[in-house]
Amino acid sequence: DAAELNGYAHFMEKEIFEQPAALENSMRGRFSEDGSTAKFGGLNLGPVDFRQIDRFAFLGCGTAWHSCLVAEHLIERFARVPVEVDYASEFRYRNAPLSGNPLFFVMSQSGETIDTLGALREAQRKGYKVLAINNTVGSTIAREADGGIYQHVGPEIGVASTKAFTSQLLIGAMLALHVARMRDMSFADGVEYVNALKSAPNLVRKALEQAGHIKAIAQRLAKYNDMLFLGRLSLFPIALEGALKLKEISYIHAEGYPAAEMKHGPIALINELCPSVFFAPKGEIFNKVVSSMQEVKARKGPVIAIITEGCELPEGLADEVITIPDCHEAVLPIVATIPVQLLSYYIAVARDCDVDKPRNLAKSVTVE
Ligand code: G6P
Repeated sequence: DAAELNGYAHFMEKEIFEQPAALENSMRGRFSEDGSTAKFGGLNLGPVDFRQIDRFAFLGCGTAWHSCLVAEHLIERFARVPVEVDYASEFRYRNAPLSGNPLFFVMSQSGETIDTLGALREAQRKGYKVLAINNTVGSTIAREADGGIYQHVGPEIGVASTKAFTSQLLIGAMLALHVARMRDMSFADGVEYVNALKSAPNLVRKALEQAGHIKAIAQRLAKYNDMLFLGRLSLFPIALEGALKLKEISYIHAEGYPAAEMKHGPIALINELCPSVFFAPKGEIFNKVVSSMQEVKARKGPVIAIITEGCELPEGLADEVITIPDCHEAVLPIVATIPVQLLSYYIAVARDCDVDKPRNLAKSVTVE
């Protein structure tokens, strides 16, 4: 085991730092020659079939469900096709009415999660084609699906998913591009999007350079027992993921919310003992997120702000600031994930938790 850790203290840490290479592997050979779109060898669908799809359904569990939510955002935003996301465990039993021509995707790192497999079988039973986004070649889900996309990030050992998650975000972004370029997206916008995706590994490398700074913040936060994660649009699922990571490995109670929803309930939790981690990227909602931060600050809640380069926060508003590189919308969720992975990792280490094997959790859940 020690040898495979290559000098890292835990597999989770190693896998966090492996992400630039993992993203390269997920993208390799998957762009068109003209550099304006993404292509996948295993979808078993022609362009005509793809054009006829009137809705996508994405199913997964845990962290994979969060990647489904980001895929939903990007496909709706860029390809303008409606997307439905469901927990695989719920889809199996809720007998959802479906439109005329949906295409299903199941998202699963291991390809062995029983709830996801059950959902795949239920959709196929109803006559739908189900594709898999999966990291494990030859897994049960890969074998039973009608086609799919392998993540190619290599084995993930840490129970808390890191590199598999960002690779799923990348594949979701590539899929959004693939569908968008068959519909309304122009050649020039396609080229810009592809170049943005190609820059993802370097942007992640830059975000990882903040590790020392984030470790110091983590040491100050390790004493708390409750935390909120707040984000909007494509970063709402990243807020959910930040909260999940923290719960999983440090046993701190954490919740993810859309920042604007905070005032409809979670605000009752805010006091000096409940810090909030905000995602405040540059763009149209930056000022709205800043007002949510002010609401927290007014109630003495510690504020941790994750901002993109070039953003300016009002003086004294945030107790801690983490800056990530500014980037294209398709890549932002990937880059924004890095600081919350590092934060939860260093908090768990500071609390002396068994990071790679958290209590009560399994890497893949093969019972219902
Ligand atoms: C388990 C793991 C989670 C994971 C989920 C889905 O609950 O502890 O980290 O996100 O299963 O796993 P999958 O292999 O289907 O992506």
